[in-house]
Amino acid sequence: MKCKICGREAIVKLRSYNLALCKEHYVEFVKRRVEKAIKKFKMFNKDNRILVAVSGGKDSIVLWHVLHSLGYKTTGYFLNLGIDEFSMKSQEIAEEFAKKFALELKIEYLKDELGVGIPEIAKISRGKPCSTCGMIKRYMINRAGLKYDAVATGHNLDDESSVLFGNILHWQVEYLDRQSPVLPRDRSLARKVKPLVLLTNFEIKFYADLLELPYIQYKCPFSTGATTYFYKSVLEEIEERMPGTKVRFFLGFLENKKGFSSPHRELKPCKKCGYLTTAEVCSFCRLKERISSQFIFR
Ligand code: FES
Ligand code: ZN
Ligand code: ZN
Repeated sequence: MKCKICGREAIVKLRSYNLALCKEHYVEFVKRRVEKAIKKFKMFNKDNRILVAVSGGKDSIVLWHVLHSLGYKTTGYFLNLGIDEFSMKSQEIAEEFAKKFALELKIEYLKDELGVGIPEIAKISRGKPCSTCGMIKRYMINRAGLKYDAVATGHNLDDESSVLFGNILHWQVEYLDRQSPVLPRDRSLARKVKPLVLLTNFEIKFYADLLELPYIQYKCPFSTGATTYFYKSVLEEIEERMPGTKVRFFLGFLENKKGFSSPHRELKPCKKCGYLTTAEVCSFCRLKERISSQFIFR
């Protein structure tokens, strides 16, 4: 198997593109896919300051690595969720990466904000903290991102196409309307971008392993996500038989998205913190109240 670009020995064959590549040209391919997404969806430019939400997982580490090597101005943001060893290890990885490439990394601790971490929140949410954790992350990443031109997250093509698949299966038109690689800035909501949307899980992992980037190998101990994994595996099976389906599915949706518009819910500032919400008080402030009534802090 020879690299299609230079004819040297190829190390990978990408069936979706019918493309075999050597190490050098594979790295180049990944960077081009990211650059293509940034340009195609008008995410940001080289003068903008980007906050990269880093979890320590392969996606956010690859995202940070690629953006930095393409010459974008990046700062990392790590939120320590207080999930014992998992959070400690993830933080170490984010710190190690930042140090290696001499990049700025901002760290916040959930315990400083709420007095408790995710394990304590799990106790008051019947053992399933994932959706509350997702809400917390969105809130805190957004707040940190307000000082930047955009917040970049590591959502990849598998994440986006499986969410899309689920939303179509259940005809969640309102979610379809909001699914986009770019969400513009709106008052207290920072601009959000997903530069990895044109790359699959496999392509990202392959890049991380090839360049020996550090990333956390195991999942959060609370992670369930059974439905998402199922949708991903169904799409993977379709992709096996019909290479290129995932990317066509996702890009086709974005091109035809207008047909799915739904009446916009009116967002107004939370009475306590100003974060845009559909309720009087946002979910984060309500969680804060609930925590202070359930835990006694010294
Ligand atoms: Fe939030 Fe696992 S990372 S519950
Ligand atoms: Zn080559
Ligand atoms: Zn609030």
